Amino acid sequence: MGGHILTICYLIASVTFIVGLKMLSHPATARRGNLIAAAGMAIAIFGTIFLPRNGVYLHNYEWIFGGLLIGAIIGTIVAKKVKMTAMPEMVSMFNGMGGACAALISLVEFGHIHEETNISHTVLIIVLGLIIGSVSFAGSMVAWGKLNGKVKDFNFPGQNILNLILLFVTLGMGAWLVFHPHLTFLIYIILCTSLLYGVLFVMPIGGADMPVVISLLNSFTGVAAACGGFLYDNKVMLTGGILVGAAGTLLTILMCKAMNRSLKHVLIGSFGGNAASSSSSGSEGGAYKEISLSDAAMVLSYANKVMIVPGYGLAVAQAQHVCHELEKALVEKGVEVKYAIHPVAGRMPGHMNVLLAEADVSYDKLLEMEAANDEFKTTDVVLVLGANDVVNPAAKNDPASPIYGMPILEVELAKNVIVNKRSMKPGYAGIENALFFQPKTSMLFGDAKKVLQDLVTEVKAS
Ligand code: TAP
Repeated sequence: MGGHILTICYLIASVTFIVGLKMLSHPATARRGNLIAAAGMAIAIFGTIFLPRNGVYLHNYEWIFGGLLIGAIIGTIVAKKVKMTAMPEMVSMFNGMGGACAALISLVEFGHIHEETNISHTVLIIVLGLIIGSVSFAGSMVAWGKLNGKVKDFNFPGQNILNLILLFVTLGMGAWLVFHPHLTFLIYIILCTSLLYGVLFVMPIGGADMPVVISLLNSFTGVAAACGGFLYDNKVMLTGGILVGAAGTLLTILMCKAMNRSLKHVLIGSFGGNAASSSSSGSEGGAYKEISLSDAAMVLSYANKVMIVPGYGLAVAQAQHVCHELEKALVEKGVEVKYAIHPVAGRMPGHMNVLLAEADVSYDKLLEMEAANDEFKTTDVVLVLGANDVVNPAAKNDPASPIYGMPILEVELAKNVIVNKRSMKPGYAGIENALFFQPKTSMLFGDAKKVLQDLVTEVKAS
């Protein structure tokens, strides 16, 4: 009887994961989707703890609840304290913990295999879980260190070849262990080489490419968890793992597409990161025009339609709330205000949607790239706030540009463009932006938050 109830719990949990994932695809339903999936996970966890499986109840309750309590306290504190801009870091850390769990499950279960009949099949799953989980754990920890600046990019000639050799050696030892499970020492060597591979695999990747790598590592963790599902014949672990694996893979592909970069280039190139900060000041691009705060406020106040293009700089400046203030001040003056959202604006998927949702900007004001590109022709003023690459026309008309082919927001179709940033320095791709030198573009220099605060005051006074 308990077994049947447990199966129903797992079924409910699996359905909530799928429904939750679907709801995460829209800002209006994302929060509820997250809660629904979390409720499903709680049902699965407590069902596993309290209901019998094949007539057997769990024991070691003090360890289980001790772990749950410590994890819940740390998770809640970290999630409450994290800044929006540090979100990829936190995702990376949590993902690493998932990989570590999968690897530990493999290590522990390897000690139990001798009681089994179909040993090779079980060892294969254990080895896969160990390799994938360890790579995901070590890689995620390096990614976490890179994102918070504690770990620097590191590469040496021939590193990719060494990595390939290490990978093949690890897989070879794994295959050897599958056929000779009595060679127990091999499991520890596989653990070490997998951890080393995880470190060396992520080390040379440009710091700014980390969100793509984290998404890839996320899919690894999903696959490692699915191995645990096979191992325990646990359907909900299998479904959850597969969903994470598939979602991570799809997200990786979508991010690469939106940046017009192949996964191969992300993994072996070192685009962005240091390149951006060491690039030229942009002075060789020609003459650009500056606009004063009061003139910018005037142009915005007298427009019929204004489109705001938020980018990474808005996130860094934490200017989303004051941006909403400006929107409200303009709407009061009878101006129609919308936001144009590029899929890879910022540094993580959905970065701008999350920021603007945090500031209570209405979802129906957010236009996706295709819809925004249709509306620029009828827009009087585009206000670019801390965005650069996502509005760079070189992506359309310069085949030599590293971002050539990346879909962009075609802001130059509007009548006027005002760009707010602090200097003429390039963005993530480390390249100049011809938009800043076009006759219809005016530069409004300064920190996005300060500039927006001043603009709100000016607009209200005008
Ligand atoms: P970027 O091209 O990185 O440009 C951001 C601009 O913001 C910079 O040029 C910077 O210029 C300005 N800025 C920085 N701090 C500021 C502040 N406090 N106030 C005002 N401006 C500030 O950003 P984007 O246009 O959003 O493009 C995102 C880039 O990241 C794309 O190349 C994309 O491929 C890449 N990327 C995105 C993702 C995801 S999933 N979103 C993942 C990895 C990489 P100043 O220094 O002159 O102020």
